[in-house]
Amino acid sequence: MNDEIPKTPRRTRYNGTHPKSFKEKYKELKPEQYAEDIAKVIEQGRTPAGMHRSICVTEIMEFLKIMPGQTGLDATLGYGGHSLEMLKYLAPGGHLFAIDVDPFELPRTRDRLAALGFGPDVLVIKKRNFSDIDQIVAETGLLDFVLADLGVSSMQIDNPERGFSFKIEGPLDLRLNPKSGKSAATLLKTISVQKLEELFTQNSDEPHAEIIAKAVLSKIAAGTAIATTKQLQEVIKETLEFLNNKDEVKKACQRCFQALRIEVNDEFGALDSFLEKLPDSLVSGGRVAILSFHSGEDRRVKKSFQSLFREGIYSEVIANPIRPSAEESHSNPRARSAKFRWAIKA
Ligand SMILES: C[S@@+](CC[C@H](N)C(=O)[O-])C[C@H]1O[C@@H](n2cnc3c(N)ncnc32)[C@H](O)[C@@H]1O
Repeated sequence: MNDEIPKTPRRTRYNGTHPKSFKEKYKELKPEQYAEDIAKVIEQGRTPAGMHRSICVTEIMEFLKIMPGQTGLDATLGYGGHSLEMLKYLAPGGHLFAIDVDPFELPRTRDRLAALGFGPDVLVIKKRNFSDIDQIVAETGLLDFVLADLGVSSMQIDNPERGFSFKIEGPLDLRLNPKSGKSAATLLKTISVQKLEELFTQNSDEPHAEIIAKAVLSKIAAGTAIATTKQLQEVIKETLEFLNNKDEVKKACQRCFQALRIEVNDEFGALDSFLEKLPDSLVSGGRVAILSFHSGEDRRVKKSFQSLFREGIYSEVIANPIRPSAEESHSNPRARSAKFRWAIKA
């Protein structure tokens, strides 16, 4: 038996003053201990590692008009920024339920919000999919307000182990809940060229879908592994070299990663089911706010809100989406593609 006391692992150190790797950013990964460093990173228009900057907070809060004693649902908890803002208006007597599918970030956010004084008496957090909003409402009762801030959080994007970004090497995973379903790398091993092309086109309007799908799957068939974010990026870069346009190639990479993410998480299926069940989850006069980040999401939200408005199920819906202010888009580039839509139950 080895009785040696294990050495305490050394803390990852900043490499000079500008750490590049996620693990080196130990200050940013502990935002509560390094408030000044965090403020500097945000001032530079960046999102500190391990954090998420909530989008359109003022616009959403102005619409939701949350009052003490109400019951609401944050359907996409993430870092908890929107939840925190909602909680300020709910006391006394109000309750917020918050859900997320991410099994890693959810407990962190629960601890962070509990440390700020929001325990289970006012805030109940559960790992659930918003497609099951009907089951959630069976537990909470009808809701006065619901927020869904779709897509991925900055913590998920920036963590190389999650495989959401081709800027950093990591396993090609892309699952919001890596404990269930198939990773994107596994999907690529079994999918047909036709289905992959369809997926790039339908999920992300990728104009080069056919040649990218063929190139990716012929590499795999020839025995070249495409198991990491950089390996997939390389194939797309090689395939689109003829464009001679770095920006276009980067956009194609973004679209292909997004299309795979949508597929492995069944994002459209979950959103459709959520939108269909929403009206039955709200009290009369209940308010719902949805933030979307690409046309596939926004089209679904718009179509559902407008058709349920025509049927008289919603009494009011926004005609054109609200966009983040110029200041917000400038200070947080990740807000740029956001579109905010709302509806009020009749
Ligand atoms: C943009 S982030 C939310 C950020 C949050 N509003 C904040 O202020 O920190 C989106 C979150 O929604 C979660 N999510 C995505 N699809 C989901 C689904 N179908 N059900 C529940 N959570 C989901 C993701 O895991 C991610 O944490």
